[in-house]
Amino acid sequence: MKNNEVSKLLSLWYDRNKRGLPFRLSRDPYKIWLSEVMLHQTQIKTMLPYYDRWIKKYPNIKSLTNEPYEKVLKYWEGLGYYNRCLNFYKALKFIKKNFHGKVPKNYDDFRNLSGVGDYTAAAVLSIAYNKKHVLIDGNVKRVMSRYLGIKTLSKYNILRIKNHLWQLMFSSNPGKFNQSIMELGAIVCRKYAPKCISCPLKCNCKAFSIDKVLEYPKVLIKRKKPVVNFIGLIMLFGDKILICKRKSTLLRGLWEFPTIEGNSKNIIKNFLKNTFDLEPRVEKRLIQESGIIKHTFSHLIFNINFYELRLDELPTAREGMKWVTEQELKEIPCTKILHKALELIKI
Ligand code: ADE
Ligand code: SF4
Repeated sequence: MKNNEVSKLLSLWYDRNKRGLPFRLSRDPYKIWLSEVMLHQTQIKTMLPYYDRWIKKYPNIKSLTNEPYEKVLKYWEGLGYYNRCLNFYKALKFIKKNFHGKVPKNYDDFRNLSGVGDYTAAAVLSIAYNKKHVLIDGNVKRVMSRYLGIKTLSKYNILRIKNHLWQLMFSSNPGKFNQSIMELGAIVCRKYAPKCISCPLKCNCKAFSIDKVLEYPKVLIKRKKPVVNFIGLIMLFGDKILICKRKSTLLRGLWEFPTIEGNSKNIIKNFLKNTFDLEPRVEKRLIQESGIIKHTFSHLIFNINFYELRLDELPTAREGMKWVTEQELKEIPCTKILHKALELIKI
């Protein structure tokens, strides 16, 4: 079968089978871009409520760029990979200043924006502006590996896949083509239970023809994630609780309970002394173990042993820290770990 016939079958299949998703109702580059950023490393069913809430609050670029970052981050709270949010915010500010608030159509201008990689640039420009750019994500890789019978996803083979996609896209609508191949990977050519019988590509599919679909692509053995141990402190004074703003790249800008790397209870003493000039004797009477929280990230695991400290004097919060009530906490973007730890205690 010729490439243009394959593309036609794929396009027909997409018209009949695509999921009705809110961001597919619009050609607004801002909305399409947001959906792609949110979908990166996140499943559709997880991101949808976030997407809807976000668009209701920030229906256009202007509404968002007038807001302080901390308010915007609250709308990302719980979705993970928070750098996506910061980069998106920075890129939109840049667009407001340098492109009169309009998402650039030029590939290099768009690709140079904060957080925009090859995938996002190709996805947004093809879907919103119908520009011819092929894209590769996990779903596309799997479909093409099977379709072309390419087992190893080496750099060279990814180039071969891109070349083939380019030829398939040639006579189609680029945005529709890119979405249809991603959609096929999501709902038909699935990792574990592909539905080859209802696949528009089955007549040309190499892996299907030799009945070895599940052997493509070759799976890489995942390395074990390192575990990092912390002591977490839930410091309470009356109805107030102490929180700190994270500075490191991971979860930057979100608020958490003070955490200290290590696993010996002794480090609490030093922390209290060095940070608040609190004497260790206070600690003995008031510290209670409240539980362990394990949190898995994409590349590592945090293991946090939480201790509860009920204080009878109010130490001054240092820079990047504040004392808040549980009510005030509701307005502040916080880590998932903080929410889990709150459940360990009774305020
Ligand atoms: N995954 C990421 N972006 C997508 C899109 N536009 N359609 C289907 N799956 C996707
Ligand atoms: Fe994937 Fe099966 Fe379709 Fe081949 S026939 S592309 S393996 S769903």
